[in-house]
Amino acid sequence: PQKLIVDVDTGIDDSLALLYLLASADEAEITVLACTAGNVPTAQVTENNLRWLDVCGAPLIEVAVGTDGPLVAPLMTTEDTHGPHGIGYAELPPSTRTVSDRTAAQAWVAAVHQYPGEITGLVTGPLTNLALAVRLEPDLPKLLRRLVIMGGSFDHPGNTTPTSEWNVAVDPEAAKEVFDAFSEALHPPIVCALGLTETIEMKPHHVARLAEIAGSRPIETLSETDEVGIRSAASNPMVRYFTDAVRFYMEFHQAQGEGYLAHMHDPFAAALALHPEFAEYEEATVDVELDGTLTRGTTVADRRGFWGRPPNAAIAVRTDPDAFFDHLLERVGRFAAA
Ligand code: BDR
Ligand code: CA
Repeated sequence: PQKLIVDVDTGIDDSLALLYLLASADEAEITVLACTAGNVPTAQVTENNLRWLDVCGAPLIEVAVGTDGPLVAPLMTTEDTHGPHGIGYAELPPSTRTVSDRTAAQAWVAAVHQYPGEITGLVTGPLTNLALAVRLEPDLPKLLRRLVIMGGSFDHPGNTTPTSEWNVAVDPEAAKEVFDAFSEALHPPIVCALGLTETIEMKPHHVARLAEIAGSRPIETLSETDEVGIRSAASNPMVRYFTDAVRFYMEFHQAQGEGYLAHMHDPFAAALALHPEFAEYEEATVDVELDGTLTRGTTVADRRGFWGRPPNAAIAVRTDPDAFFDHLLERVGRFAAA
């Protein structure tokens, strides 16, 4: 199977990304699960990850804890979006697992040294840990097989400021260091930015389908038209916990005027880490604005060579969301059923 380092700020959509990867054991082996501050503080992210691993009956995986916050900026978190503990209304049982002695950055470096050229890195949170890892090992971009990032927004409104996307906005300095360093990578990192991930809309009928595949008692109060909220009644624990998490996210999106749905940014990035063929890409040179009074944290893509610098991003620009959801729900549903 494909070896992975997975770096997350779990997070409701990070949770489903993790479930998907654990459900993909035939194809993917998580060598390090790194925890970064973002949606919620690092300690809470760590707790959430340990608990999800238990819920999923995952094998022993190195869980490495990152720093308390960004390289330079003060930490901002978003409990409004992801719930007080980062996983919506889900209340997962406490885990007995322990964390690694290595920091997240050290774990990244150790893993790429152990398996040079073999690991795909997936980051679905701020890029703090990876930036620190590159400071420790400047050759890291050449030692990774490929990097996949959920982050940034190009020619599309932001979700944190008018032009910035959350994962980059939380730690713009880290994002810039990573994009700069990865101009030396074997392949330009795959970048899943908001313009595409906001087309990946999970609706109640998707959750019902997941429950059905898992052989779980159906979700209560689900209407055919998706207009009525979902209530957690699933008999399958994994489906129930996920439903409890995602309905918080759907309520958040509804309160934003986007409808009763939830954008599956991070699961989409996870799917591209295993199946890049789910999207089409455009190469570009990406940099991050650090100083703008209005635009700090904004990603800028040079597609016409103005800067005279090599491409450091393969921006995912087109996909078929239905095909993606079929793949995701089948895989996670069957895993939950097992
Ligand atoms: C990103 O921000 C986080 O809140 C989500 O988990 C996702 O990684 C989307 O901008
Ligand atoms: Ca995330």
